[in-house]
Amino acid sequence: TLRAPEPAALLAWYDRNRRRLPWRAEAGERVDPYRVWLSEIMLQQTTVKAAGPYFLRFLARFPDVRALAAAPLDDVLKLWAGLGYYSRARNLHACAQAVVERHGGRFPAREAELLALPGVGPYTAAAIAAIAFDQPAVVVDGNVERVVARLFAVEEAMPAAKPKLRALAATIAPAARPGDFAQATMDLGATICTPKRPACALCPWDEPCLARRRADQDSFPRKAAK
Ligand code: ADE
Repeated sequence: TLRAPEPAALLAWYDRNRRRLPWRAEAGERVDPYRVWLSEIMLQQTTVKAAGPYFLRFLARFPDVRALAAAPLDDVLKLWAGLGYYSRARNLHACAQAVVERHGGRFPAREAELLALPGVGPYTAAAIAAIAFDQPAVVVDGNVERVVARLFAVEEAMPAAKPKLRALAATIAPAARPGDFAQATMDLGATICTPKRPACALCPWDEPCLARRRADQDSFPRKAAK
């Protein structure tokens, strides 16, 4: 019998195993949209491990969006040095100024308004809406694509499968705790449902996972034939 992947099983796993990352609020702490936004911009092309120290330096120097908006662009670029893709740092600064000018220094909660900000694309808008504001946005990055491709044994190859993976991700996203669910799927992909040799014995979704049932985890997501 086919069992659907239950959000509650993943959330229970997340409560025990979530990664403690510098931009995540600890239990009982309020989530700071500025921190969520800053981390998501840094994580666009940088690993979690590499982004950590940069995130902490930025936060120490620019503790809130107003401080960042008021800083000279050169200071921002200097602190960004080493992360690469300097257009991201320019957009970061422009976005901070837009949040101050358009929204009085508070990040908007709605995906559409977030999307209108400099440097904020569909992934980042969904991530901020879900993680910072608990909006039921569907957050799909590469980790989540791999998790979903395996859960449903999606036969379509990447990157053509992307719309299907997004639609399937939407079918399993819960109304409750959307921010935690988004980060839980990311953590699952990063630590359990890894590209090679996934640790299925530790996975809260190993029962409903169709790739696992076929003992064929490694071949999902399918790659286009060369
Ligand atoms: N990658 C991008 N955003 C992330 C987050 N909030 N947690 C873990 N990995 C991420």
